[in-house]
Amino acid sequence: MRENSPARRARWKPASAAALASLLAAATGCGGGAGGNEVEVFSWWTGGGEAAGLDALIEEFESKHDISFVNAAVAGGSGTNAQAVLEGRLQSQDPPDSFQGHAGAELRDYIEAGYLEPLDDFYAEQGLNEAFPDELIEQASYEGSVYSVPLNIHRSNVLWYNPQVLEDAGLDPEAPPETVGDFVDALEQVAEETDAIPLSVGAQWTVDHLLENVLLGELGADAYNELWEPGADWNTPEVSEALQRFDSIMEHTQEESGSEDWQEPAQRVVDGEAAFNIMGDWAAGFFDELEMTAGEDYDWAPAPGTGGTYMWLSDSFTLPVGAPNEEAALSWLELVGSQEGQDIFNPLKGSIPARTDVDAGAYADNEYLTWALGEWEQSDLAGSFWHGVTVDNRWKNEIDTAVGLYLQEDDLDELQEQLDAAAQSE
Ligand code: GAL
Repeated sequence: MRENSPARRARWKPASAAALASLLAAATGCGGGAGGNEVEVFSWWTGGGEAAGLDALIEEFESKHDISFVNAAVAGGSGTNAQAVLEGRLQSQDPPDSFQGHAGAELRDYIEAGYLEPLDDFYAEQGLNEAFPDELIEQASYEGSVYSVPLNIHRSNVLWYNPQVLEDAGLDPEAPPETVGDFVDALEQVAEETDAIPLSVGAQWTVDHLLENVLLGELGADAYNELWEPGADWNTPEVSEALQRFDSIMEHTQEESGSEDWQEPAQRVVDGEAAFNIMGDWAAGFFDELEMTAGEDYDWAPAPGTGGTYMWLSDSFTLPVGAPNEEAALSWLELVGSQEGQDIFNPLKGSIPARTDVDAGAYADNEYLTWALGEWEQSDLAGSFWHGVTVDNRWKNEIDTAVGLYLQEDDLDELQEQLDAAAQSE
């Protein structure tokens, strides 16, 4: 797959490294309590399109080990509920044996809090230093040690659409909008010419997800990446313009969608109720599960303005300090990090493997994933803020609060002020 050349490395945007080594000392204490013959794994993969990959991995795990798998998944897209439950457990020293965390700044929060064991020896034993791109290992590392095992790479910036609805609106389904400006025009056209929802959204986090896509689409990869430097200036005419676009786009979404997660708005596209949805490629796994046909029931393109950039995120699994079943957790991590495990999980999940020794044959039946693998080879990279790459939880939550207020009050100046304040308070 990719080479780890300096040019490649430059594509990755390292999240800011906060210096907080003291708490790490606490992380060196060993877990591995008495524990029974089980492994408890915590994630948020329960819903449509989320559970199938995990279930297949669990089946493989149980066929290899005489260890019972306790699936402690907590429902809720992008981990909004799960992360709160997990934090409570970690604070009260009741960790699962392994939990899902995004590579990047999100993981660093857990490391700095002293919740994670380093996995350097495990990496060496399993040959993982050679299996993953160096830049991804960096995103799972802190002060020279590595703390999680990446299972996949997801893409945040995908525009999903219903070809028939586009045609009904007089738009060419073979030529979906390539810029944010064209996208706004297309949404207007759908609104005028059809009864369909121009752009479906769901829970508030799906609006955060939309925001990162509009920022990337309007600003481009370099300026987008610079936004996540601590103290970055969000009070610029370029950001104002991007937020105005965001506001115009939001005018074409349906109301009363906050009670829906991400599956319902995605489903509206394949059902022909909505023309477009901007969502990560877990939607590809969902559409497969619904037995939808690519090119007929749905089609996709880079989110408008983001062609040539892969806005990436990576689900990874950890070994918490005090994991009751450390040996069993390491067996789980072995499967997570293996080529076999990744090629079982990813074709079902709609993601591509984090490992570089991909078996392309395992993805060949899947049009979307074949496309994604090719894109991953040749795109520039930007990190997803919402899915844990570029900002820590404090910053992410402040953005979410600002977006929540915007949804209530529709005050764009206030939104920009709060986004700027969130960047300043590092
Ligand atoms: C992301 C996660 C994906 C997918 C998605 C929707 O944060 O990395 O694996 O689950 O949320 O829940």
